[in-house]
Amino acid sequence: MQEPQSFVQYIYLASAALFILSIKWMGQVKTARHGNWAGTAAMLLAVIGTLVGGGISGTGFLWAAVAIVIGGAIGLPMAIVMPMTAVPQRTALSHAFGGLAAALVGVCEYMEMRSHAAHEGVSTFIMGALSAEMLLGFLTFTGSLMAFGKLQEIITTKAVVYPGRNLVSLGTLALSIGSAIFLTINPDSTLAFGLLIGASLLFGVLLIIPIGGADMPTVIAILNAYAGLSASAMGFVMNNKLLIVAGALDGTSGLILSILMCKAMNRSFLNVLFAGVGGAPAAGGPAAAPNGKVITGFSIEDAKAVLEDTRSVIIVPGYGMAVAQAQHVVKELANVLAKQGTDVKFAIHPVAGRMPGHMNVLLSEADVPYDQLWEMERINSAFPEADVAIVVGANDVTNPAARTNKQSPLYGMPILDVDKARTVIFIKRSMNPGFAGVDNELFYLDKTMLVFGDAKKVLTDLVAAFKQSAH
Ligand code: TAP
Repeated sequence: MQEPQSFVQYIYLASAALFILSIKWMGQVKTARHGNWAGTAAMLLAVIGTLVGGGISGTGFLWAAVAIVIGGAIGLPMAIVMPMTAVPQRTALSHAFGGLAAALVGVCEYMEMRSHAAHEGVSTFIMGALSAEMLLGFLTFTGSLMAFGKLQEIITTKAVVYPGRNLVSLGTLALSIGSAIFLTINPDSTLAFGLLIGASLLFGVLLIIPIGGADMPTVIAILNAYAGLSASAMGFVMNNKLLIVAGALDGTSGLILSILMCKAMNRSFLNVLFAGVGGAPAAGGPAAAPNGKVITGFSIEDAKAVLEDTRSVIIVPGYGMAVAQAQHVVKELANVLAKQGTDVKFAIHPVAGRMPGHMNVLLSEADVPYDQLWEMERINSAFPEADVAIVVGANDVTNPAARTNKQSPLYGMPILDVDKARTVIFIKRSMNPGFAGVDNELFYLDKTMLVFGDAKKVLTDLVAAFKQSAH
């Protein structure tokens, strides 16, 4: 018979393998559900391994049961009730509590060492890992809570910028790192311990307040990386290999995700963290059309007339589709067009909306088949052949200034080549700009038809008009 300890190592090995498969499967829409199940199973195995691993006994099981029941009672309704649009803030909350848990375990370990004067035998490496665990855990906690507050609009979504903010933030970070190093070398220093906690908690707040609400998904991915690294450090402290592996996976995947998001926006990491983008109010609607064109809205009937007799249509969804929850009626329009023989494709920009995969998730929810979702690199060559591009609440991801205007904050960001379609139908409520706060020259092209209104309402009316004329 195997010793219980080595049996637990096999459970941990299976759990680690499932975590890796989970991340791999999550990378593709088709296998994402499997990825979700694999991640859930991996976490279940990790919990089972911990419970049977021999580290818990007596009343420890009771406390674990109480924690599982309380956590489940909060987590389950959250998962069921929270809408898809609230996933970024839900993720922020999870990271906050993940970070807090890691940090508190670190505090407990430290207290235990101090109370038993056991630190004499503690290596500098372990003490360093413990300090890193507390630093990253506490800053993830307050940083993620702030991110949650911004996304839920409990606190201002604007970037709060003040003179010398980067100096204050970096000074606080230096204090927290300095205390961590001092504590590593002098484990008895209560002052360093207190400063480490205080400065890390403060840095979490200072890191987030100068960042605009719409940048929060990128920031959450970074906080995800911090929480993972904190858990990994905890693994070293507790000599738990699964924590080291799972934390490292979490840390690196968060880091890679944030880099991919920055790349898709053509912004640097440092620009997101320190440039205070989203501080000034958006530049407002355009004062006057650059070519003197008088902007008039087109009607539902105008849009319908253009869409009849089309061979190919590309639908470009964006943040406004998510706000209007128009994904189901978008799918209905695609069905109506397909019924009249039109080839319909969906163009997916990697940062359309406000979180990674935002459009994929919403369109999947509306049962749009995967093969109709075309990523930017593949769809761009199809725009010149398209009769109509219908832009549903997207803006920045279509702005040609990203290709041509060096002064534009969007310059260099890869965009969907909507302007190359023969006609562009733009559905939005007003002439207001999108996230980047800049005007979109697409609005003023002769080929563009602006249909003003809430995306869901406009599309519902459009579908109804098609259905009516079919009778
Ligand atoms: P945006 O450029 O933000 O444009 C959204 C448009 O939707 C706005 O012009 C708005 O115009 C319209 N809209 C809002 N509510 C609407 C409604 N109910 N019905 C119809 N239209 C509505 O969106 P995008 O093109 O998807 O670009 C995303 C932006 O977010 C990019 O700049 C990107 O860099 C940034 N960002 C994305 C991410 C991720 S990971 N996706 C992360 C951070 C930042 P009206 O107000 O006139 O209706």
